Amino acid sequence: MKSKYTTQCHEEHILYLELQKEEFLKKFHEPPDLEKSPDNYDRIKAIGNGAYGEVFLVRDKCTLEYHAMKVVDKTIVVERKHVKHLVLEKEILRSVQFPFIVSLNAAFKDNLYLYFILPYIPGGEMFTYLQKYGSFEESLAQFYTSQMVLALEYLHFCNIIHRDIKPENILIDTTGYIKLCDFGFCKIIKKKTWTLCGTPEYLAPEIIMSRGYNYAVDWWALGILVFEMIAGHPPFYAADPSKLYEKVLDCNYKCPKNMTQDCKNLLRGFLQVDPTKRLGSQKNGTFAIKSNAWFYEIDWSSVLNQRVVPPFVPTAHEPGDTSNFPEISQIKLRRLSTCLFENEFKDF
Ligand SMILES: Nc1ncnc2c1ncn2[C@@H]1O[C@H](COP(=O)(O)OP(=O)(O)O)[C@@H](O)[C@H]1O
Ligand SMILES: [Mg+2]
Repeated sequence: MKSKYTTQCHEEHILYLELQKEEFLKKFHEPPDLEKSPDNYDRIKAIGNGAYGEVFLVRDKCTLEYHAMKVVDKTIVVERKHVKHLVLEKEILRSVQFPFIVSLNAAFKDNLYLYFILPYIPGGEMFTYLQKYGSFEESLAQFYTSQMVLALEYLHFCNIIHRDIKPENILIDTTGYIKLCDFGFCKIIKKKTWTLCGTPEYLAPEIIMSRGYNYAVDWWALGILVFEMIAGHPPFYAADPSKLYEKVLDCNYKCPKNMTQDCKNLLRGFLQVDPTKRLGSQKNGTFAIKSNAWFYEIDWSSVLNQRVVPPFVPTAHEPGDTSNFPEISQIKLRRLSTCLFENEFKDF
């Protein structure tokens, strides 16, 4: 069947992306917004364990609005030599504006920590639902994937590579639509980059081979995500990372019996070891993805404008409901009278 996504639809979408990119660049070069401090917020509950600290549900003392507050321990960041990552995470987060990407409300620092204030997404992680239901129907996976395609297309258009696509970093809003979060590994790239980062099961072969890589790694990771949503497990798995990497490089995976042929074909496109042959990174770019047979039912403009009725909507009884987040142990933030790593984080 012929796709409804014509080259004319694509050209119109590119014009929209050009405007979005202009907005992104304008914000990226603007001076930072008015600063707030941790004292502006009541901390209600820890909802997530981050790589460098904790994420809390907080409430703005003034507006009474709920937010997620990601707290990052400066010492851990310096120890891991990730200072640049954190500065970039803030710069990019405060500049991006897209329906399926989490935005940044404020960012500030104190003697010990860096703080990101984000809109609170009460539906929680896609990961939680995959654990709860085992796997998703193809129609639900398709709905989420279409938003991921649009979000990655936007990021790549702004020259941003995400590098950490996985179910833990995709939040489900109470509208049923997704919000991609965690820009801790994102980067603005011109042609290629070399840093080894990401999550083992989602690493593209060219990252593993340290050959230098580009945006195509996000399309590989999206292929892994599509597989995991439908199969309930990633296509390549081994407890020992070197065994896992061998499997990735062999690219030998087995699709579940009930997976449609269109989906298998799409995966064959994304899971190409050679990034130049990968779906999304060839000459016709995202047009090839959006006109792919698996997305035949998708009306891309309706998805972008959130006019599609979501197949699943998480329950949240009130704006500060945390029932979609697993219980985690609550930690106390420390205090210190002297400022640590002032110079290292002067750009944050
Ligand atoms: N805006 C948000 N709303 C709700 N939960 C969030 C939000 N941002 C992050 N979280 C939760 O915190 C976890 C860790 O945040 P993330 O930005 O991914 O940090 P890390 O880089 O440490 O993985 C997420 O996986 C999610 O469960
Ligand atoms: Mg994360």
